[in-house]
Amino acid sequence: MSNAKVTLDGTDHQFPIVEGSENEVGIDIAKLRGSTGAVMLDPGYGNTGSCQSSITYIDGENGVLRYRGYPIEELAEQVSFEEVIHLLVWGELPNEERLEDLKAKLTEYAVVDEGIKKILEGFPRHAHPMAMLSSLFSAYETYYPTTGDSEEDVLRVLAGINTLAAYIYRYKEGLPYVYPSKDLDFSSNFLHMTYGSHGADPDIDEVVAKAIDKLLILHADHEQNCSASTTRMVGSAKASLYASIAAGVGALSGPLHGGANQAVLEMLRNIQEGEGDVAEYVELAKDKSSSFRLMGFGHRVYKNFDPRAKILKASADDVLDSLGLDDPLLDIARELEQVALEDEFFVKRRLYPNVDFYSGIIYRALEIPTEMFTVMFALGRVSGWVAQWQEMRNDPAFRIHRPRQIYIGENERSVPPISER
Ligand code: SDX
Repeated sequence: MSNAKVTLDGTDHQFPIVEGSENEVGIDIAKLRGSTGAVMLDPGYGNTGSCQSSITYIDGENGVLRYRGYPIEELAEQVSFEEVIHLLVWGELPNEERLEDLKAKLTEYAVVDEGIKKILEGFPRHAHPMAMLSSLFSAYETYYPTTGDSEEDVLRVLAGINTLAAYIYRYKEGLPYVYPSKDLDFSSNFLHMTYGSHGADPDIDEVVAKAIDKLLILHADHEQNCSASTTRMVGSAKASLYASIAAGVGALSGPLHGGANQAVLEMLRNIQEGEGDVAEYVELAKDKSSSFRLMGFGHRVYKNFDPRAKILKASADDVLDSLGLDDPLLDIARELEQVALEDEFFVKRRLYPNVDFYSGIIYRALEIPTEMFTVMFALGRVSGWVAQWQEMRNDPAFRIHRPRQIYIGENERSVPPISER
């Protein structure tokens, strides 16, 4: 396959075909407007590739997800989150020496300027943690004037989010801050800074730490999703990494994206508290006159099971069993999934549970407040945003992202005097 042909007003135009390493086919329309005067129109970008990337591969038809070629199922079981950070950001799984070096740097850069606490304490305690997190990353630039895209910026973002997430929790709960420990890995440090006692030695539940680590791996990257594309978009203007990450946090906070994990829990709780039963919620989700969507269901790319949902469904059982917990919301989730998967509306539209459907059950078992669920999503996803941002900035063909449009407004007209408006 070499070219695609577009015929416009009787004239044929040829455009080169690009084939990826997994045989995906793209039509390179970089010269479309120059040669035809026309632009492509694709609201929501469902059919538009924004870049060529080597980071993450998704096969939505077959429920495949790989980070730099490694299947998510293997990574989730065999490596630590720090190894995934190294894989995504530096391009390969680390050897022992590189891993220890990365862990030491993540600990070093986990210490944030004390002034950041004053900004945090200026927010209303009841404010949503994602709004706080986005603001604090914007504030990072005031404390660490960016040196561009240096390794220091990258490490400050990768390590800092752990501390910021924990500090936000402590501030909202009215608890004293707990500093990061140099002897703990990423997930254990999150638990220590979030749930530890001020001044006390770390006391980490290994089951919980392992569950957090797996959740962070599963959420680390997902190619050109809304928040990764936002991070790329902002970075394409040569804005700092901090400003780009702050924007990515904002995009992730939306209930159609990362905010869905919180919305799933609220939906399950509503069912449990008798504000409707499973069948009612499924019918409501099918009702075109209702804006309600079955949260945690459906995906722009996966038209099969989201492989992360499969792993999380099994992990929910393991975590609850390990902690000796029994959560009725898990039973409701399973019933909801069963009813939806057998319903023609969902079957026809190939709507399956996505990463957000079961993650909330596990966060809840780990005693993470519902409002912090999307912060947990960001805790994993920041590594993917950094990787995507760097790939964009290091691309020799790098240019500012600036989509076009088709104007459908008023044609030219003259300004009437106010007495005639
Ligand atoms: C994430 O992009 C990523 O990779 C995201 C993510 C990542 O790791 O970064 O995977 C994380 O964001 C997962 C998605 C979390 N969001 C939710 O769970 C919210 C509920 N899901 C829907 O809002 C929806 O499925 C989206 C937003 C996820 C996808 O939206 P699309 O691709 O725009 O799908 P669509 O709106 O075009 O839906 C197609 C049809 C429509 O019906 P018809 O017009 O064809 O009759 O399916 C229906 C939709 O109404 N539909 C749903 C539904 N999702 C789609 N109907 C009921 N409930 C749903 N959840």
